[in-house]
Amino acid sequence: MEPLSGKNIILGVSGGIACYKSVEIMRLLQRAGAEVRVVMTRNAAEFVAPLTFEAISGHPVFTDMFLSGSGDAMRHISWAENADAAVIAPATGNIIGKLANGIADDALTTLMLAVTAPKLICPAMNTHMYENRAVQRNIDGLEKDGYIIVEPGEGELACKAVGPGRLADPERIFNFIIDVFLPKDYFGKHVVVTAGPTREPMDPVRFISNPSSGKMGYAVARAAAGRGAHVILVSGPVSLDPPAGVHKVQVSTTQEMAEAVFAEAENADVIIKVAAVSDYRPTEAAPHKVKKDSETLSLKFEKTTDILAELAGRKKTGQILVGFAAETRDLEQNAAKKLAAKKLDLIAANLVGGDDSGFETDTNRLRLFYKNGTSEELPLMDKEEAAHLLLDRIVALGGQA
Ligand SMILES: Cc1cc2nc3c(=O)[nH]c(=O)nc-3n(C[C@H](O)[C@H](O)[C@H](O)COP(=O)(O)O)c2cc1C
Repeated sequence: MEPLSGKNIILGVSGGIACYKSVEIMRLLQRAGAEVRVVMTRNAAEFVAPLTFEAISGHPVFTDMFLSGSGDAMRHISWAENADAAVIAPATGNIIGKLANGIADDALTTLMLAVTAPKLICPAMNTHMYENRAVQRNIDGLEKDGYIIVEPGEGELACKAVGPGRLADPERIFNFIIDVFLPKDYFGKHVVVTAGPTREPMDPVRFISNPSSGKMGYAVARAAAGRGAHVILVSGPVSLDPPAGVHKVQVSTTQEMAEAVFAEAENADVIIKVAAVSDYRPTEAAPHKVKKDSETLSLKFEKTTDILAELAGRKKTGQILVGFAAETRDLEQNAAKKLAAKKLDLIAANLVGGDDSGFETDTNRLRLFYKNGTSEELPLMDKEEAAHLLLDRIVALGGQA
């Protein structure tokens, strides 16, 4: 999938220690199909040579407004007019101050004044600089002017200070850029997504679970947020970071997941249950670690709350209920049965156990079953792509504007 195919992106680089990470951002953009042109401040060129960006982007780097002989003396206008988006990463306190005040005294600031496409700013600086009131005032001002701010991360910085100010991860910046181009067809909608496995304890140190990585559910949550939805992600234990702009509710057991989902269901326009929950749990969890004193060990199980069935009972008019079914055989029959029994609008089913589909993989091969009896076989694709396709189909069901 090349989500940025045909897009012209301006990558602005200002003089911070994180300049070297701009190269990685450029590579991510290029891999997604974008044509990247780089504009650097003179100070940025002290950190990374423009030649690096020139070699990788395949275009001359714009650093000097008044350099004759480039063949395009008006690059600050022509590049700006061609841009589908412009991102400054890293953005220094200095460049943020200049842009917030409409100052245009070098190639980057002058070009940014001329850009009418979406503009993203990725601040990166020492924590005290970042928390300085003038810098915060300037960031607020830029946000009010319509700039998209990609907040810095926290941690130990190059200057050894600990706190906010570290350039957001290249992957996160890349995702913000992708979101700029997504349709906003979920704007104003409340979407509840569940993801990951649940854990049913048998003693304080052991539990019954499954290998769900949460990748599919997180991809759905990310895609919905990118398309403008207010997303609540009810997640079992996984090792993924929650997507930007998503409100995550951390749970462990099926019962906790049920309670979290029911609390949100009332307000939801769409509920997408991607989590692989345990259908059974040990009737009781031992209060202390079970010792290996006997040759065999028997556990007695009881059914957990059937979240989907309960949601079906509470379903309000216009609400869309989507389930996932992971099967190891008889996919069609099992999915159809679940669709009818749980009064779902749509069920996405996949056979698990293969190398390229189901648990822990980055790709999925889904088959969609609709309540009108039709079904659709999707080819193998990235979980991100599958998530967007699923959201497209939900829109087509009429639950969205
Ligand atoms: C080693 C070094 C690292 C720096 N790192 C940063 C930084 O991460 N963020 C920042 O805002 N300024 C940083 N500065 C200060 C900027 O380079 C300085 O404010 C400069 O005027 C910015 O120019 P520009 O915005 O035109 O690129 C650093 C300076 C030096 C010498």
